[in-house]
Amino acid sequence: MSSAGRRPFIAGNWKMHKTVGEAVALVRELAGMVSGVGETVEVAVAPPFTAIQPVAQALAGTRIGVAGQNCHWEASGAFTGEVSAPMLKEAGCRYVILGHSERRQFFGETDESVNRRLKAALANGLVPIVCVGETLAEREAGRTLEVVSRQVRGGLAGFDAAQVGGMVIAYEPVWAIGTGRTATSAQAQEVHAAVRALLAELAGGDTAARVRIQYGGSVKPDNAAELLGQPDVDGALVGGASLKASDFAAILRAAR
Ligand code: 13P
Repeated sequence: MSSAGRRPFIAGNWKMHKTVGEAVALVRELAGMVSGVGETVEVAVAPPFTAIQPVAQALAGTRIGVAGQNCHWEASGAFTGEVSAPMLKEAGCRYVILGHSERRQFFGETDESVNRRLKAALANGLVPIVCVGETLAEREAGRTLEVVSRQVRGGLAGFDAAQVGGMVIAYEPVWAIGTGRTATSAQAQEVHAAVRALLAELAGGDTAARVRIQYGGSVKPDNAAELLGQPDVDGALVGGASLKASDFAAILRAAR
């Protein structure tokens, strides 16, 4: 636990990687490696939709939870290519990632659509992991905090304190995703502290103190401890390094 009592939360975002067979093999390996870590650290993996149910079955009885990588705002309907929150829930998800920068960049996701998806996630008992983060151009223009604040305000618009208290925020600078170029721990801490201050403004200090804020963007076994050592960094959303059981397990140990 951090000094503020927030339980570290490490999630692996597999993105569009792993067939069903590969996914089940990976979580079997992972379950064996993390059996001793799970108590102090909350752990989840986010496989592609096709692998959610078999992964959830393979992880039954372990402390590793399963996350979707997105969900639609309607429960069902004519929305080709989308998956709904109740579908994720029934398939075995406890969490759902929303507003990832790849969804924003390649699939037209906006703060407004993230807000609608977030409502559906909460209504269906899924814990949302809401992603925010600036591009390199925005950082270089000195607009990081402005952009991240706009994303948090827009995504979380209309939710009360109890609802905000049930969310996880992930700060993922776009320029650090998949580039091997991570934010420094000071850069991460600055944004995390600003997000927490904004949450306090939106939902009160007690709620803000409870919400976990993950860092994402080239988190690896060799930089995880430094990032996770920051007072407002409560976990990590891990991409590439979550595809290898030994690397993901090493990041979990760093969080402990
Ligand atoms: P990488 O860890 O591969 O940089 O990806 C981060 C990410 O986008 C997690 O959601």
